[in-house]
Amino acid sequence: MISREEAMNIISKYGQEHLLDHFDELSSDEKKELLGQIELIDFSVLENLDADKNVNAVRGRFEPLGAVTIDDIASNSKEYIQTGIEAIKAGKAAAVLLAGGQGTRLGFDKPKGMFNIGVDKELYIFECLINNLMDVVKLAGSFIPLYIMTSVKNNRDTVDFFAEKNYFGYDPEYVHFFMQDMAPSVDFDGKILMESRSRISVSPNGNGGWFSSLVRAGMLDEIKKEGVEWLNVFAVDNVLQRIADPGFIGAVIKSGLQSGGKVVSKAAPEEKVGVLCLEDGMPSIVEYYEMTDEMRTLLDEKGELAYKYGVILNYLFNVKKLEEICDKKLPVHIVDKKIPFMNEKGEYITPESPNGHKFETLVLDMVHMQDSCLAYEVVREKEFAPVKNAVGVDSVETARELLKANGVEI
Ligand code: UTP
Repeated sequence: MISREEAMNIISKYGQEHLLDHFDELSSDEKKELLGQIELIDFSVLENLDADKNVNAVRGRFEPLGAVTIDDIASNSKEYIQTGIEAIKAGKAAAVLLAGGQGTRLGFDKPKGMFNIGVDKELYIFECLINNLMDVVKLAGSFIPLYIMTSVKNNRDTVDFFAEKNYFGYDPEYVHFFMQDMAPSVDFDGKILMESRSRISVSPNGNGGWFSSLVRAGMLDEIKKEGVEWLNVFAVDNVLQRIADPGFIGAVIKSGLQSGGKVVSKAAPEEKVGVLCLEDGMPSIVEYYEMTDEMRTLLDEKGELAYKYGVILNYLFNVKKLEEICDKKLPVHIVDKKIPFMNEKGEYITPESPNGHKFETLVLDMVHMQDSCLAYEVVREKEFAPVKNAVGVDSVETARELLKANGVEI
């Protein structure tokens, strides 16, 4: 454990001396808690507040990227599925569930995967995902290793829930949990917020840290020992998510490309979705707010949207390439959020509107580190039912409708 002086040395480099303002009033346990946090936090994320150093501001030249379309896939499905199944049977593919987020928009106080999306029966989001993965297990005749990323805030609940529900019928030997890193939250002046006199406000550092967190948790050795070559990374909130989809895995392997991303055709030019494209000749995702009107409405020679393929947070990465890029820093995104904090009078405040920034790295930025990426088009109504909000767009309601439409009993 670092001393008070060492802690002061670290934080003073970043102008955060106020973190120790109440140190002398703390009990010895509280002192340990605070020093422990200061020792672990990566304060260098604060440098991103400096506009000159914020890499996000600088983007390259975008160009559209084509996809293997639904029709292409239909004509080659036998071959793709066979290749994918062979890879799965040979233990070459594993799945990584990103479940470290806080799900603030849903407003559910437990991990999002514990949300019961059922109506007449219990059906949890985690259960939907396991059911979907079981389809592939049955087809391939072998279990697929499933790595689940949680955060320090939801790890206990998640692990206990899986145990309580008997892993929804999945073989627990194939399920591995690991925790992602945390980043400090700051107010709009760049001062780190405190939750209490002894606790710094931290939050999960975005879904981009999944591979480095997996490595830190010591799981890469096991992955390599088992001969896993491909990792299918996916979000917790899409209840129609096809996981370790043999067709997708087979198509990426057959294409000889380094990675793959599942995409859906944009419903309209103004749809708020990131689009898989090329940036300076390399695969990349352009966010909807980064697109100019011209890009949004540009048509290709077939008269279709040129920037057409929206990502759904389902990627296939190659382990060797991931190892290669692991040490490269991902860009840090600064997002405005409502962050509960302790004010100068020592009162705990839950703000009604955004009061500061959080720092996040995003898995989509890993796509830009790949030499190539296969855009694999899937049918939106069959594979994309995100639960982001309680009501309205991408909500519990819309996901329930889509589950029903796909014959899932809810
Ligand atoms: P979102 O970007 O929707 O964030 O996550 P969120 O935290 O779940 O929800 P809001 O924005 O607070 O409402 C997309 C996926 O990335 C995971 C989420 O669990 C989800 O599967 N994620 C997000 C992480 O694993 N860690 C993070 O730090 C953030």
